[in-house]
Amino acid sequence: MIVYDKGVEEFENFLICEDSFDEMSLGKTESIMCQGNGYMCIRGYAEEAYPKKVATTLIAGTFNIAMENEVTELPNISDAFSMELLIDGKRFFLAENNVENYSKILNLKTGELTRTFAYKTEENEFRFVMRRFVSAADVHIAVSRVEITAMKKAAQIVVLSGIDNRATNSGECHLIENVRRFYEKKFAYTHLVTNQSKIDIYVNASHKIFVDDAELDLVPAPKMSRRTISAQYNLDVAAGSVVAIEKYISYYTSNDADEVRCDEPCASYKILAQKMAVGYFKLLEESVEVLAAKLWERDYIKITSSEAIAQLGINYAMYHMFVMTPAHDNRMNIGAKGLSGEGYKGHTFWDTEVFLLPRFIVQNPAVARKLLEYRYLGLEGARRKAEENGFEGAMFPWEAANPKDGEVTPKYNGVDVYTGDQLKVITGDIEIHIVADVAYGVYLYNNFTADQEFMNSYGYEIIMETAKFWNSRLEYADGKYHINDVIGPDEYTEHVDDNAYTNYLAKWNMEYACRSYNDLLAKDPELLARLDEKISIGAVIETIRERAERIYVPVPDAELIIDQDRTYRSLEEIDLTKYRQAELVASIAKDYGMEQISKLKVSKQADVMVLFLLFGERWADEIKKANFDYYEAFCLHDSSLSLSTYAILANDIGYERYGYELFKRALLIDIGQEKHSCDEGVHAASYGGVWQCIIYGFAGVRMIGEKLHINPRLPAEMEKIEFNMYYLGQKLCVKASKDTVVVANMGERAVAVIIKNREIEIAANAAVEA
Ligand code: BGC
Repeated sequence: MIVYDKGVEEFENFLICEDSFDEMSLGKTESIMCQGNGYMCIRGYAEEAYPKKVATTLIAGTFNIAMENEVTELPNISDAFSMELLIDGKRFFLAENNVENYSKILNLKTGELTRTFAYKTEENEFRFVMRRFVSAADVHIAVSRVEITAMKKAAQIVVLSGIDNRATNSGECHLIENVRRFYEKKFAYTHLVTNQSKIDIYVNASHKIFVDDAELDLVPAPKMSRRTISAQYNLDVAAGSVVAIEKYISYYTSNDADEVRCDEPCASYKILAQKMAVGYFKLLEESVEVLAAKLWERDYIKITSSEAIAQLGINYAMYHMFVMTPAHDNRMNIGAKGLSGEGYKGHTFWDTEVFLLPRFIVQNPAVARKLLEYRYLGLEGARRKAEENGFEGAMFPWEAANPKDGEVTPKYNGVDVYTGDQLKVITGDIEIHIVADVAYGVYLYNNFTADQEFMNSYGYEIIMETAKFWNSRLEYADGKYHINDVIGPDEYTEHVDDNAYTNYLAKWNMEYACRSYNDLLAKDPELLARLDEKISIGAVIETIRERAERIYVPVPDAELIIDQDRTYRSLEEIDLTKYRQAELVASIAKDYGMEQISKLKVSKQADVMVLFLLFGERWADEIKKANFDYYEAFCLHDSSLSLSTYAILANDIGYERYGYELFKRALLIDIGQEKHSCDEGVHAASYGGVWQCIIYGFAGVRMIGEKLHINPRLPAEMEKIEFNMYYLGQKLCVKASKDTVVVANMGERAVAVIIKNREIEIAANAAVEA
């Protein structure tokens, strides 16, 4: 079971714990307890082997195509945390009948993962403490420490530990081995190259062995087999003695933006030798300090609530959003599963702009900027995709990997089990709302930061190129412009015309481009001239303006409903109860194929609701309510992006109880008790969704009509939410309670904020209460 209340004092609400060993839920804890630093991430897999163990290590940005007919994906890099232990000649592994007092705990605050348990053999008993971390202080380093105490009598322990290059992505091998050797008899080293993208990868591993805290001076026996290199230690342990095996690991690649020159191979092992001299505990301390500075003290969210799960949930989400975000390099972005597993191949979706980006825009704008720069670097691929499809401007890819790659959505996903026919994936062709989602990310960032330099260098170009795309994608009929044959956010409806979300966003995108054009014309004609030279915006801006006015957008009908698309409301209705109640998502796929689902009135996820989330001020609450009631009844929340959206909306429109219930469901998507929901990796966007529930939803922070509003609507359980945020470059500390809001401006310039519908100017270094 997953237990949430193990943390006390400084670790209260910071521990995620599994309280018994269950081989069947290995995948779950490997995902939710993964460790990383945005550069790399290692799943929380066991050191010892199990058939279902998935020992994945991913390094951001190392995309590679394994073989023909595959798309680019993040390769699973060598496994270095695994270790084989033989105890008195028998392989060590856990089973229900040989383990007691088991706990596996991820400490979110320190980033340390610890397994403790008693292990029983026929004649002896052992106490195990297995701990490890991936450093936040030096992103290339990971360290583990395995402590074993023979409780009843002396034992012989054989340790086989090193680097395992047999890693594949479900069988697809990405890595060519170049070098495998030891340095100074102790440092296992491998140099690998990704077979297609030709990225060099350098992995080092070395050990320190202690008995009762005294380090032994041992030279291990070198062991090599095909694609592995290990050090073997034979240890005789007296009863009651503690043997500790510390393992120091480093990963570097030729793609790294930092300076280590690994093409001289010994450079990396010499750095590791320095780390080893520092030792496990000191290195951990350094990592904890950096994690505090980069995350826990920098971007805090403190919730006073009768239900501790809210605080634990947001701590958990914040931890993962740190681990998964390559904040160090604008050539990289956040994958739909972060870096926690193979799912979605490490690709980036609209999940970034609509779900995750707000957390960074509001609390850490420098990181948000990097994520948007990635999209700017992606313009080349987006222009190529537009051209290949017969359109203009930038058609951002539905799935993205390296920025210049353009569209990387697989063309097929699996096969029909009975016919063997490949199942086509069409999202890469027609799920085009991503184009406006990217522009929306720029808009939101600009509204919160007024980062003119960003807009001049990157933002305007993105906005105008995306507007040009829409301009060329429209189809004219009956006096209106239409966007036909798309998939909107709700992926259970395919090949639809005039999807509300897509059309509204396209219209907004085009209008925003026109406004930006006018602004530049008035304020910075030189920049506009430069832009025009590059992207010929002047020639089309009038057409964009005219067409934007005439895009068909569905308006609320007599029952106040906004049509999700042209056909949704006439689709066949079936009883959805069993699917809505199912523990695992996509249960409907067991009964119906995708083509059939497309003909049913059933939604995978929020669609019109996302529109309300992005541009809520445009519709009255009664319209939102009518649509909420209508669409939620058909929604299976089969995408993790759905619950948080509905939760925020429910809270907005006065369905507080239901909103809170949906919030808790969103929060438990991965850390709930269901065993297999995140085997292939965590649901990254839902963590951004949980953040939005708290900051947008309960604390009521919203950008409305380009002005910052704070209008809290706390659920009954919550007394107060305290957090920091940035607005127009000024740091604000906010305390949102049921009756009052206190906003302290820690910056050097005054800012105007609309608090509870009243515009208030907050002077520098001053606080207001409303
Ligand atoms: C959802 C998409 C999402 C993707 C990646 C799909 O299941 O329907 O909206 O972008 O997963 O998270």
